[in-house]
Amino acid sequence: MNESLLESLPVGLRELAKQHLPDKPVHIPTPEERDQRERELSRRLTKQMEIQKAMVYLDKSLWPAGIPISFNFADWKPNKQQDQQRAREIGNKAWMVTKEAEKNGAFNVVLLGSPGTGKTSLALAIANKLKQDMSWSWMFVNTTELKALVEAQYDAYDVKQRIAKIKRAMTEVNVLILDDFGTEGGLVSRIMDRDYKGAHSNLQQLMYEVSNARFGKPDKMTIVTTNNSNKELNRIYDPKIVSRLVTQNKAHRIAFNGMSDVREMEG
Ligand SMILES: Nc1ncnc2c1ncn2[C@@H]1O[C@H](COP(=O)(O)OP(=O)(O)OP(=O)(O)O)[C@@H](O)[C@H]1O
Ligand SMILES: [Mg+2]
Repeated sequence: MNESLLESLPVGLRELAKQHLPDKPVHIPTPEERDQRERELSRRLTKQMEIQKAMVYLDKSLWPAGIPISFNFADWKPNKQQDQQRAREIGNKAWMVTKEAEKNGAFNVVLLGSPGTGKTSLALAIANKLKQDMSWSWMFVNTTELKALVEAQYDAYDVKQRIAKIKRAMTEVNVLILDDFGTEGGLVSRIMDRDYKGAHSNLQQLMYEVSNARFGKPDKMTIVTTNNSNKELNRIYDPKIVSRLVTQNKAHRIAFNGMSDVREMEG
């Protein structure tokens, strides 16, 4: 503190000033420094809010039998398959799709093939990588679980509230995994039956609204895993829904043909 200023103070006050005022002159930030500080603070707050929002979406996930699954690209082991070369190609295609989305923005992806071949696993690997590299939020919705929720007690107030929250998250989240899409349609033999009516209208309505809101948005990727053919999917759901969810772009369709059921081999 300025010495002459200190001297000019009454003795009592001088002692107090010595004890409490800083030795060096206080630096008053320039407008540029203030702006810089505010920008930094706002960047940190936005990041914090994004992290919290991402957790809210993930928390709305519907896992098979309620049990969350975790899988990353590093967990993909081609030697679990007899045709290791093919398993390697499939893993590479999933990786390339992820890199393309990182570079050019989101698009839909479909992983199709028979049970136990690793579709859900690679869908999770893509979502985790996009979260890691791009901070994209993601959630997992097993369609069988969604069907159970929608059909069971649609009229019960708490269930209705829960479905509304899930639907909102499904609409807003960056990466939506629609797992086992089509399984809710039941047995293939029944789906192709002449009297087959398709999925429940509440489920169709929800799927339509979600798929329509997400379609073509550069920050919304929908990853579908399915055991069903396009023909079957078009009988379970209105073709408008299928065309908005299941891409026909070959570069974004990952077919698991030639793969065997790892679950069966491990079990
Ligand atoms: N190449 C692989 N490397 C490591 N684990 C694998 C691989 N392929 C499959 N698995 C494991 O096998 C099990 C079945 O895989 P997953 O659930 O991904 O199959 P799916 O194709 O989604 O089956 P479904 O059609 O029945 O849903 C999982 O535990 C998964 O982690
Ligand atoms: Mg699966």
